[in-house]
This record gives sequence, structure tokens and C-alpha cells, in this order.
Amino acid sequence: MSWGSGVLAAACHPGCCSHAPVTLENGPTVNRSSLPAPEHAPEVGLAAFPNPLEVDPALEAFLAGASDLLCRWWAGSAQRSPLPALSVLPEVAPGRDGLSPQALLDDLQLVMDGAYNPCHPGAVAHLDPPPLTASVVADLIVAGLNNNLLAEELAPSLTRLERCLTAWLAERFGFGVGSGGVAASGGTLSNLMALVVARHTAGLQDRRDALVFCSVDAHVSIAKALAVMGLPPTALQAVPVDHEGRLDVDALAQGLAAARRSGQPVLAVVATAGTTVRGAVDPIAAIAELCRLQGCWLHVDGAIGAVYALVPDHAGRVPDLHLADSLTVNPQKLLGITKTSSLLLLRQPQRLAACFGTGLPYMEPSWAEAHGGECGLQGTRPAEILKLWLGLRQLGERGIAAVVDGAVARRHQLQQLLQPLDLELRGGPLHLLAFTPCGLDAVEAQAWSIRCRQSLLDQRLMLSRPLYGGRHHLKAVLGNPHTTSIELQTIAEQVSVSLQALQKPLLPLL
Ligand SMILES: Cc1ncc(COP(=O)(O)O)c(C=O)c1O
Repeated sequence: MSWGSGVLAAACHPGCCSHAPVTLENGPTVNRSSLPAPEHAPEVGLAAFPNPLEVDPALEAFLAGASDLLCRWWAGSAQRSPLPALSVLPEVAPGRDGLSPQALLDDLQLVMDGAYNPCHPGAVAHLDPPPLTASVVADLIVAGLNNNLLAEELAPSLTRLERCLTAWLAERFGFGVGSGGVAASGGTLSNLMALVVARHTAGLQDRRDALVFCSVDAHVSIAKALAVMGLPPTALQAVPVDHEGRLDVDALAQGLAAARRSGQPVLAVVATAGTTVRGAVDPIAAIAELCRLQGCWLHVDGAIGAVYALVPDHAGRVPDLHLADSLTVNPQKLLGITKTSSLLLLRQPQRLAACFGTGLPYMEPSWAEAHGGECGLQGTRPAEILKLWLGLRQLGERGIAAVVDGAVARRHQLQQLLQPLDLELRGGPLHLLAFTPCGLDAVEAQAWSIRCRQSLLDQRLMLSRPLYGGRHHLKAVLGNPHTTSIELQTIAEQVSVSLQALQKPLLPLL
């Protein structure tokens, strides 16, 4: 496998020593022992399990030590690169005896040193923003509670929280009273579950000739879902997009008509609200009308764009989400809820249990309609809903609006800076912008993308390098609230320099 430029050199040291000198990011070599030691970690006396009788000072100190590590890691983010150049792993196998709290923290630090650094202002490559602080805390509490959203008796309050919050969000997206959904570990899983429910609802479980229509720019998780569902690759009907990257409705209408003529059932149409490379939003109202006429399920993959609908000033960027039968939302993307955080919302959430319910003979009956573990593919489930709830409560309506406003403003600014350059810009209404030089063929565009990405990484600016329409692009995802005009201007300058280099004849190889 080729990793392209900006390779992350990874090393797993057999018996790797936590005091070995390590090279941090693209910068200098640092002797590990020179890093400030966490202040709170005790050397001994940490019980393996929490004490059910009294507060354990050693545990409190261990938690404080870990919190200290994390706060320092965040606080040093701007001094490191978004992408560390070298990652040294501590020993992976447990030793004969357990480690002391301090040794555990030292090992943790090593792994943290090699981690991707989303808080760096130049981290604009992917849909992975800095974490929302309250959701980090909620993640810790989730781990500490160790409840299981499989069944109500294993997570009573958290089950109710999940039902109430998914219902509130579904109503907020316009699905109406009685709507709701379930949390899932990632958008891939939400999309898969949506298509499984669509197939079940249509009674097409036995039809290997059933089709799913989506645009050529839809996320790869749709193809993955069909493979998991046992459908052949031909089940995926990829519809062309227009010059703005939106699904071509006429082509969809023709495809649906052809399916009707050939007697092939349509399992679902998937519209995307925010495509992965350029953030395009498919024309959902027109697609919904075709689905209504054909009598087929409309799933909207709003993993990227749906959260815009929570902000009145920006809801127009993703119109008509309420016309879907099911909707994927990924608060882990723009809103920074810690991973994983995805939801599958439905106008009729009871369809989830109708599809996935098997009965849980080893559990007390559900107090409501169905246990959480019967509303989707996952059995044991972490209480991911807690960090979504706490994160949304931390932001409030104004904070959510500020996150979206900032992302849109950064994208506009970068677009203005790049507009005068000899580039093909590919965007949509959201916070993503991809671009490639005009007039290059596929090989030239690939070479340019590798060189330009590396020159940006040398400045600690990380963009991604998607292949789109047969040519490599660079892509900026502008959801990082720490990114300022300075980073955006430097990106534009570096790209401009890379274009000037294209004009110069290449030196002959010696
Ligand atoms: C449009 C879209 N849908 C679905 C997904 C899959 O989400 P996840 O990575 O959480 O599985 C992505 C991921 O980037 C995406 O861009």
C-alpha cells in the first residue's frame, strides 16, 4: 500500500523503552525524560477496580495524572505538527506483573506523542475536528459507569436519555411527533442499518436483484452496506452528478424507470446531504418526489451536512431533510462530539425493532417498546448518547450556531483566496473545499498533489488528497475552530507557489 506523502513512520519497539529519544512530528528530537512529569501520579497502591466503600485517593490521583497528561497534550498542540512524523509504541504485551500508575502514564504519553493532532490550527484535512471538552468528560463518565445500552436494566437512565434525545433531534429535523432513532458507532453503521430497515420494510429480503440508487459521489459506506447485505456489486446503481456535485435527478428518474421496466425492485434511494469530497447536497425534494411515485424508501446520508439543519441561519444549505424515511447524522464530525457519535433517525422508529428485534430471552422485558440492543445491529453498546447530550448542552443553541458559522466563514475565506489562482475549485454549500490545477492530466495532478501536500505539511498545514473525477485534488475541511486567517493565507500562498512550479520545465534526471 502506498501512503503517498507525509508518511507517518510507525515503529513498534520490541521492549521499547519509555525513555528512548523520540522524534516528534516534523521537528527536533526530544529526550523523553526531559518532558515534565505529571504531578499527581502516585507510584504504588492503585486498586484494579473502583472501591465500592470509600473514595480511593490513589485512584483520584491517577485520574488527575491522566487528566494532566491530556491537558498538556492539548496545550502543546500548536507546537507540534498535525501529523507526527514518528510514532514509537510502548511494549504491547502485558508483563508478568502489572505496571505502576506512573509507568502506565509514561506509556500513555508515548502513544499520545504519536497521535494525530486535531487541535493544531493547521489540521484541516479531514472531518475530524478537535473534541468538544464536555464530551471528553462525558466519555470518561461513560467508561466509569460501564452501563450497557443493550437493555434497559443495564442502563436505565441512559436508555431513557437515548430515546428522549433521538426523539428530540428527529423532531428538530422535521420528522414530526413519534419520530426517533438510535445511536450507532459511526455513519457507516447508521447507513447500513438504514438500508437493512428499508429492505425489511419493503419485504425484499429474498431478492438478490434489488437495487439501491445513489450518486457517484455517495460515501463508500453505501457499497459496503450492500456487500454486507449479501447483494452483488450490480445492486449499486451509481447516478451521475451535475457540475455542482449533486445527484442528477433526470438520470435518477431514467434509472428508476428502467428498473421498473425490467421488473427489478428498488430497495432504496440514498441522497447525500454533504458529499465526502466537496460537501455537495443532493436535491432532496425532487428525489423524494421520485421515491414517492416509485413507492421506495428514501434514506438521506446527512453524516456531514445534517447538523446544519439545527441552525436556522444555515438550515437552507440542507433543505428538505424531513422528506426522508431515514437520516444519518454524525455529530462526531463538525460538532466535535468525541468518536464515535452517529445517529440513525427515522420517521417511524418502531421499524427498527420490527427489523432487528429477536427477543432477548436472557433479559427482563423492555419497559417500553424494545431494548436498545433490538433497535439495531449492535448488541452491547456504549452509552455514546451521553457525550452527545452533554456536548449539545455545553454548546447551547448559540454555541452550535457559532461552530457552523465559523466553519462556513473559513470556507468562504479560503475560497476567496484561491479564486484568483488557476485552479478548478470544487465545493458545495458546506465547509469543504477541494481543488486541483486547471489543465493537468491524471498523472500530473497526482504528482502536483503529492508535492503540494508535502510543502503544506512542511508548514504544519495538513490537507487531504482525494481522488475525485479521475484526478487528485487537495481538500480542506474547515471545521477546525482554531484555524485562523493566517493558516488560510499560508495555504493559498503555498498553493500559488506550487502552481508557479508547474510552469517551470522539470530538471532532467541525472
Ligand atoms: C457522507 C458520509 N457518509 C458516511 C460516512 C461514514 O461515516 P463513519 O466514518 O462515521 O463511518 C462518511 C465518512 O466520512 C461520509 O463522509
